[in-house]
Amino acid sequence: MNQDDSLLKFEVPEIIYGLGALGKIGQCAKRLGGEKVFLVTDPGILAAGWIDETIKYLEQEDLEYVLYDNVVTNPRDFQVEQGVQLYLQKGCDVIVAVGGGSPIDTAKGVAILASNHGSISEYEGCNKIDQPIPPLVCAPTTAGTGADVTQFAVITDTRKRMKMTILSRAITPDISVVDPNLLKTKPPELIAATGMDTLTHAFEAYVSSLSWSMTDPHAIHAVELVAKHLVDAVKYRSLTALEGMSIACLEAGIAFSNAILGAVHALAHPLGGFYDIHHGVANAILLPAVVRRNIEHSIEKYARLAIAMGSDTRGMTQEEAAMSVLGCIDRLTDELQLPKKLSEVGVRRKDIPSMADRAQYDICMLTNPCTYEVDEIKNIYAEAW
Ligand SMILES: [Fe+2]
Repeated sequence: MNQDDSLLKFEVPEIIYGLGALGKIGQCAKRLGGEKVFLVTDPGILAAGWIDETIKYLEQEDLEYVLYDNVVTNPRDFQVEQGVQLYLQKGCDVIVAVGGGSPIDTAKGVAILASNHGSISEYEGCNKIDQPIPPLVCAPTTAGTGADVTQFAVITDTRKRMKMTILSRAITPDISVVDPNLLKTKPPELIAATGMDTLTHAFEAYVSSLSWSMTDPHAIHAVELVAKHLVDAVKYRSLTALEGMSIACLEAGIAFSNAILGAVHALAHPLGGFYDIHHGVANAILLPAVVRRNIEHSIEKYARLAIAMGSDTRGMTQEEAAMSVLGCIDRLTDELQLPKKLSEVGVRRKDIPSMADRAQYDICMLTNPCTYEVDEIKNIYAEAW
C-alpha cells in the first residue's frame, strides 16, 4: 500500500455565517485581492432582488463587476465556456457566485477554465486541475448542494447527455458567505428537494469508505438538523427552521467534500443528464433503494443514522435499528410530498440499462460502502421505478 493511501485530509473554506452575512460579500472579494468581480447567478435569484443587494455591497467597496446570469438548473458545459470568454474579455480577477448549486458550479467551471484553459470536459474526474483558480466567493441561496464549501462541481456534458463530476481541492471556494435570509425567497418545493439533497450528502458521507472522525460528527449533526427543521422550513419558512437547514447544508457539505459520496449520487447523476430532473428529487427517490442494499455492509452506522433521524431504537437489535432508518426516510418524504418513484418524474424504463452503464463509472461509486455490478445497479433503478 502506498503511504499516501492511508492519509486523510480535512479541508474547509473560510465561512462567514449569520443573518445579514451577505453584507460582507464586497469586503470578502476585496480582501482576496479582487478589483473586477465576475458575478455569477441565475435569473430567479436576479428577480428575487439578491443581486441588486450584492451589487450594492460590491460598490460600497469600489469594486467593478460583470454580471453573468445565463445559468439554468443542471448547468451546461457551453454556459461555462461562454462564461469564461466573458470573464477573460472583461479582465475580471475574482469570482462571486450568488445562487444554488447551479450558479456555484458554473462559477467553479469558469474559474477552472480561466486559469487552466481548454474545455471543461478535460477536467472531469479526480484531481485533473494543475493551476490554482482565481479567488472564489460563494453565497448559497439554497440549503442543499453545499457547493459553497465543497471540492466538487457537477456540469452537464450536453453532447453525451451526461453529468460530469469534477473533484479537486483546487476548486474549494475561498470564502462561503452563508446568510439564511437568502432562503426566504425559495419556493417550498425547492426547499424540500434541496433539503433531501442535504440529507443524502450526510448519509453518504457518514457511510463512505473515506469517512473518519473529522467528518462523522458533521454528517450526524446535519442529519439531526434535517430531521428537526426540514418539514418546518418547507411548511412555514420560519427563520429558525431556515437557519437550521443552512447549518445542516453546511455541515453535510463539509462532511461530503472530505469523505465523498456514494451510490445514491452515482445513480442520480445520469438522471440529471438524461432528464434534467432536479438533483434533490432524484436523490430522494433513489435513497431508500440504495440504503436497503447498503445496510448489511454498514449496519452500525445505519443504526446511528436512524437515531439521528429520530427513531426510538431502544429494545431493537442493531439490524432492526438500522432497518428503521428506512421508515424515517419514508415518513419524511411523505411529509414533504415528494415523488417516490422514477416513473412519477417521467423516467422511461427503457433508459435504465444506459443509465446503469454510466452510473457504474461515476466517481461517487468509489466510496460507497460496497461495490455494485451493472446488473445490480439496474435492479436498484428498477426498484425505484
Ligand atoms: Fe448532491
